[in-house]
Amino acid sequence: MTFQKRIAILGSTGSIGVQALEVIRKYPGLFKVQILTARRSSGLLIRQALEFLPQAVVVTDRNAWMEVRDTLKGTPVKVLYGNGSITEVLAWDSVDMVLNALVGFIGLEPSLAALKNRKTLALANKESLVTGGHLVMREAAARNVSILPVDSEHSAVFQCLRGEQATIEKIILTASGGPFFKYSLKALESITKSQALDHPTWNMGEKVTVDSATLMNKGLEVIEAFWLFGQPLSKIEVMIHPQSLIHSMVQFSDGTIKAQMGYPDMRLPILYALSFPRRLDFPEARRMDLSHFCSMEFHSLPADKFPCLEMAYEALKKGGNIPCVLNAANEVAVDAFLNERLNFTAIPGLISRTLEKIPLIKDPTFDQLKDTHREAQRMAQILLTSC
Ligand SMILES: NC(=O)c1ccc[n+]([C@@H]2O[C@H](COP(=O)([O-])OP(=O)(O)OC[C@H]3O[C@@H](n4cnc5c(N)ncnc54)[C@H](OP(=O)(O)O)[C@@H]3O)[C@@H](O)[C@H]2O)c1
Repeated sequence: MTFQKRIAILGSTGSIGVQALEVIRKYPGLFKVQILTARRSSGLLIRQALEFLPQAVVVTDRNAWMEVRDTLKGTPVKVLYGNGSITEVLAWDSVDMVLNALVGFIGLEPSLAALKNRKTLALANKESLVTGGHLVMREAAARNVSILPVDSEHSAVFQCLRGEQATIEKIILTASGGPFFKYSLKALESITKSQALDHPTWNMGEKVTVDSATLMNKGLEVIEAFWLFGQPLSKIEVMIHPQSLIHSMVQFSDGTIKAQMGYPDMRLPILYALSFPRRLDFPEARRMDLSHFCSMEFHSLPADKFPCLEMAYEALKKGGNIPCVLNAANEVAVDAFLNERLNFTAIPGLISRTLEKIPLIKDPTFDQLKDTHREAQRMAQILLTSC
């Protein structure tokens, strides 16, 4: 008899959450949706709940919660309210695996709760590792729980490392370069929101799409790789690969490079994380036309054009709560850009000025990270008024 994994999907109404449900829909015998959560996308959450009949849904916006509660009355689905309820349901014995597809710092606490409760963690929420990597990895080690990466680059590295005992010489994270890789510094000054949201190869949530355009996303991914794979920063490189066919590579101590490739499709790393250690059939994925090999390009990073990536490296070197400051300021900056209150080229400036204002705390606790996040966001909001 096949064991059916009972999955909690945190952020089921987002880009990753919706694609996870698409994958799960194809394997009803292998996966059971146990929990779904959303902030305010009540209509979509209701449709998902009626289709998958999870044990519970959690909604964190009060008005949305009331609407979901009223609509699902008379169904077996429990409707819970608030972030506290997310951590609460992760303790339920009926949950085997947690897919954390929340966006932002808000994802850290549920990641820690999942691990504390010994639930396998399929991790899309990169901010968990960026802000609290030391706590997350410590908790996973202490409880002997696996973290399965969902981010396509980290899934690629994870797949390249499978079965290897050899020393890693370097990890090469590929980056599409976003829509503006070929733009001049001058042209970057007049970037609009719709241009930034028009990613050349991936279709993602708004925050991660803007992060991809500034290359902050790659910076966050470098920090994520540092924690996930336990390699020093000097062994983690970024290479621009505009076609996004190779999702990342690992070079071993004999010089061999292993790469994982395919057309960009987030359903694949999601499926791999959910089904690990198995690799399941997925006929829906477009098969690679190997003639595309001859059009693959690789470029080193252009100096000065993407300061966000540099700031992420620096934040990781400083350590402690500084990556949390970087992330908090970036969340404010991206939100301001999306609301047309900040120019694209002013994003790095706002982050670097916020970084100057918040003192370092070495080895911060979760509560100290929460304070850091709040204080850095408050500071970034103040600085925003003078941008
Ligand atoms: N999208 C991709 O292709 C991709 C690829 C690699 C990595 N990632 C990473 O995966 C994570 C999710 O990205 P995404 O693009 O799927 O994000 P998204 O489309 O913005 O979805 C975020 C999800 O989290 C919920 N949410 C947002 N804020 C919340 C809050 N304060 N409290 C509770 N729930 C909240 C949203 O609910 P509502 O819908 O109700 O707002 C939604 O369900 C991010 O860390 C991103 O960097 C994404």
